[in-house]
Amino acid sequence: MNITLLGTGNMGSAFAHQLHAAGHSLNIVGRDAAKAQALAARFGASTELARAASSDVVVLATGYGDAVQALRDAALPAGAIVVDITNPLTADYMGLTLGHTTSAAEQIAAALPGLHIVKAFNTVFAQRLAAGARVSATETVPVFVAADAEPARQRVAELARSMGFDVIDAGPLRNARYLEPLAGLNIYLGYGAGLGTLIAPTWLRQS
Ligand SMILES: NC(=O)c1ccc[n+]([C@@H]2O[C@H](COP(=O)([O-])OP(=O)(O)OC[C@H]3O[C@@H](n4cnc5c(N)ncnc54)[C@H](OP(=O)(O)O)[C@@H]3O)[C@@H](O)[C@H]2O)c1
Repeated sequence: MNITLLGTGNMGSAFAHQLHAAGHSLNIVGRDAAKAQALAARFGASTELARAASSDVVVLATGYGDAVQALRDAALPAGAIVVDITNPLTADYMGLTLGHTTSAAEQIAAALPGLHIVKAFNTVFAQRLAAGARVSATETVPVFVAADAEPARQRVAELARSMGFDVIDAGPLRNARYLEPLAGLNIYLGYGAGLGTLIAPTWLRQS
C-alpha cells in the first residue's frame, strides 16, 4: 500500500520501520522538514504533503492537540482512510482530557466528517511497535480496530496484519471511548507500575 505518515516522533519512526519492513511504500510528513527528510532517507520514502491525498491510508501520528490541523493541512479527499492512533492525554500523561461521552477519534471525525477515521494502534507503545508484534513463540500483540466504515476497517486490519499484528475487531468508532482509557491503563502499567513499554493489552477467549 501507499502510506502517508503524519508525524515523525516516537510512533511515526516506529511505524516507518515496520511499514517499510512489511513492503509498503512510504510518504513521511512532519512539522520539521529536516527531521522528516532524515527519517524518509532511511526508508526510501518521499516527504510530500501533497502526496497524502492519493495515499491508500494515512497514519495520524501527531499528538491529539495537533491532529485536526495536521489532517486539514493534508487536504485529504472525501473517503480517505485515516488511522487515528492518538490518545488525548493530560500533560503528565497519567490521565485523559476527554472521555465517557466522546473520544479523540470521535472528535476528529466530527471535525472532518468526510474522512473515514479508524481507531487503531493507540494501545501499542512506540517501543512495542518498534520491537515488532511477536512477543514470544505463542504470543502476538493485538491491534484493536474501531471504525464505522467497514471497508476502512478492513483496510486498516490488513495493514496491521501485514506488520504481523493480530487484529481484534472493536466495533464502531464510538468504542474508541473504551480504547483510549485502555491505553491510559497501559501507560499506568508501563510507566507508573514499572512493567515497561514492551507490554500490550490483549483479550483472552475460551478455545
Ligand atoms: N509514544 C507512544 O508509545 C504512543 C503509543 C500509542 C499512541 N500514541 C499516540 O501517538 C501519537 C504520537 O505520539 P508520539 O509519542 O510519537 O509523539 P511525538 O514523539 O511527540 O511525535 C509527534 C509528532 O507529530 C508531529 N506533528 C505535530 N503537528 C504536526 C502537523 N501539523 N503535521 C505533521 N506533523 C506534526 C511532531 O512534530 P515536531 O517534531 O515538530 O514536534 C512530532 O513529529 C500521540 O497522539 C500519542 O498519544 C503514542
